[in-house]
Amino acid sequence: MTPVVELREVGREYQGVVALRDVSLTVERGELVGIVGPSGSGKSTMLNLIGTLDHPSRGEVRIDGHAVRELSDRALSALRANTIGFVFQQFHLAAGVSTVDNVADGLLYTGTGLGQRRQRAAEALETVGLGHRAGHRPHELSGGERQRVAIARAVVGRPALLLADEPTGNLDSQSGDGVLRLLRSLNETGTTVLVITHDREVAATLPRRVAVRDGRVVGDG
Ligand SMILES: Nc1ncnc2c1ncn2[C@@H]1O[C@H](COP(=O)(O)OP(=O)(O)OP(=O)(O)O)[C@@H](O)[C@H]1O
Ligand SMILES: [Mg+2]
Repeated sequence: MTPVVELREVGREYQGVVALRDVSLTVERGELVGIVGPSGSGKSTMLNLIGTLDHPSRGEVRIDGHAVRELSDRALSALRANTIGFVFQQFHLAAGVSTVDNVADGLLYTGTGLGQRRQRAAEALETVGLGHRAGHRPHELSGGERQRVAIARAVVGRPALLLADEPTGNLDSQSGDGVLRLLRSLNETGTTVLVITHDREVAATLPRRVAVRDGRVVGDG
C-alpha cells in the first residue's frame, strides 16, 4: 500500500538557516510515531512540511501518494481538508465561538453543509468525551478539555493522518495523559498519528520514535 508520508532527501532553509537537512522518512498507514529531539532541532519544520503548510527547499514530500510539489493550490487545499488533521500546543480555538462550532470549522473546506457540519461536530465531541460541553465556549473549558476540542476539530473530517505538535505541552500531566489516550484510541481505529513530544516518558511508550537533531534524523525505531 502507498505510504501515508514519504520524505525523500528533504531539506529546508530559512534565509541561510538550515532547519532540516537530507531527511528521508516513510510512515505507513496505521502507524503511531513520536518525533523527539531538542529545541530547535527541526521537529516543527518537519511536521509543517508533512502537513503541507510549508514547502521544502529541496527534496520531495509525498502525502498519501501525492507529490505535494506537483499539486495546484486547489488540489493542495483539498488534500489538507480531506487527509490531514492538525493539533497544536496552543489549541488555536476561536474565542467566543461554541465548542460545537469550533469543531464544525474542521469541515469548512470539505463542501459539507452547515447542518451536516454541526451534526458531525456533535458526534466528534462525543468521541472525545465532551458531548456535554457542546454549547460552552473555549474560555469556559479547562486546558485539557480545550485540547480535546482541538482534537475533535482535527479528526471530524476523518483524516488519514493526524499531526500533533506538542499537544500536551501546555497541560498538566493528568490532562496530558487524557490527550495521549485519545490519540492512541484514534490510532487504534485506523488514523495514522505523528506526535512531537518533549516528554521522555510519553516518548518511551510509543511504538516508533524518530529522533531529530540539528535538522537530521539521527534515530528511528
Ligand atoms: N520561519 C522561520 N524563519 C527562520 N528560521 C526558522 C523559522 N522556523 C524555524 N526556524 C529555525 O529552524 C530551526 C528549527 O526550528 P523548529 O521550529 O523546527 O524546531 P523544533 O525542533 O520544533 O523546536 P522546539 O522544540 O523549540 O519547538 C531553528 O533553528 C529555528 O530557529
Ligand atoms: Mg517546535
